[in-house]
Amino acid sequence: MNFKIKICSAITFILLFFLVSINAQQTNSHPDLVFPDKWSEPTVLPDHIILTFSSDPATTQSVTWRTNTTIKKSIAEIALADGAPRFWRNALQYNAVTTLMNADSINTANISSNYHAVTFTNLLPDTLYAYRVGDGKYWSEWFQFKTAAKTAKPFSFLYVGDAQNYIFEVWSRLIRQGFKKAPDARFIIHAGDLINNAHNESQWHEWFMAGGWLHGMLPSVPTPGNHEYRGYNADDDSKKVSHISVQWPYQFTLPQNGPEQLKETVYFFDYQDARIISLNSNRLRKEQVPWLDSVLFYNPNKWTIITFHHPIFSGAGDRDNKELRDLWKPLFDKYKVDLVLTGHDHTYTRGQSPKTKNSLTGVNTRNGATVYVVSVSGGKMYNLSEGLWNGYADAQLDRIAENTQLFQVINIDGSKLKYEAYTATGQLYDAFDLVKRAKKGNQFIEKVNKAIPERSHKNTITYDKKNK
Ligand SMILES: [Fe+2]
Ligand SMILES: [Fe+2]
Repeated sequence: MNFKIKICSAITFILLFFLVSINAQQTNSHPDLVFPDKWSEPTVLPDHIILTFSSDPATTQSVTWRTNTTIKKSIAEIALADGAPRFWRNALQYNAVTTLMNADSINTANISSNYHAVTFTNLLPDTLYAYRVGDGKYWSEWFQFKTAAKTAKPFSFLYVGDAQNYIFEVWSRLIRQGFKKAPDARFIIHAGDLINNAHNESQWHEWFMAGGWLHGMLPSVPTPGNHEYRGYNADDDSKKVSHISVQWPYQFTLPQNGPEQLKETVYFFDYQDARIISLNSNRLRKEQVPWLDSVLFYNPNKWTIITFHHPIFSGAGDRDNKELRDLWKPLFDKYKVDLVLTGHDHTYTRGQSPKTKNSLTGVNTRNGATVYVVSVSGGKMYNLSEGLWNGYADAQLDRIAENTQLFQVINIDGSKLKYEAYTATGQLYDAFDLVKRAKKGNQFIEKVNKAIPERSHKNTITYDKKNK
């Protein structure tokens, strides 16, 4: 009897193994995703709903969304969030500003949509609100967001490098893992190259679908990358003329406090005790210097964080940005900017400049310097050239990664800034603290020893460009 059972079990096992073998084969080719026609076209229902800051995050909140062009008038409703489902009985209604984006003749956009924007005002600080958008007939769901406090209070935010490629395919998991790791994050910095082809409506739709409802709950702080600039048509391309994504000013409602020609790409806002500054590393770099000087000079905040796309210190190939370094870094040094968050290189590097010396020992320390980070969140990966970073006389490279999708969680709590980088699978990849000290530069506390070992092309799943 026992012998018969053993024989039966063995036969079952062989059959199962055979079935699994024919149903599961190793995937060697991986073509780009294909989306059906009209996949990215707007309808009467609000979509691409996104929160941004355009003024004081303690008392205002902007929301922008998209519909087809039959929806000519839109409204938004906002109420104090409450556990009772009919919290909407206390809602206030705001009329939206509706603007037609006619991009029918712009290559890869080829679309006309209506965009609708509202800025909720007179909000209570540090308060949870619920809001929805629509036209009175077709509505979104109710989203929730929390306003900033009026004074310093612990908070976290997210930062990601280039999403850009394979956005729906693999940036989706990264951004969702980020939200899981920091569900109370108050905003997310996107350090440029959000998509690959500036005006491409399908790629923007990928970006909005990958983030999904997170975009309606977690305010975005976007800065433009080189991939946000393309010609509108073949004539532009032949003349090497490029324009920022046609969608940019329509879909993001951002502060208007930058230089005139760079509005909504160069701007700043204060979030509790931190000043967040977006620079545009693509255009009029020199013209941004006096603006930046004044924004850093008249800065009452404890912490200063700057984001832009092209790194001051580059770690990939022939991507050095000397002009940018010469123009902007003296101001970062002068005002002791705490953190500079960038993208573009499709690798990860974290280091510091200037190198600082201990006056007693003469030994270089890492206290008092600006920390520079380059990161990548999407699916395109380059090779790192450490030699380039290490060739900078006044900079020190401390942590690297290749072939790894990363997001960063940054927490500010009074005199302490806690920085953590995580992989798309939620593993801690990099960490350090900065501690403000009276009349001294920041104390730097290295915590990379808590992280997983260094990842490179050599010890990770092959990044085979031919097979994507
Ligand atoms: Fe770039
Ligand atoms: Fe990029």
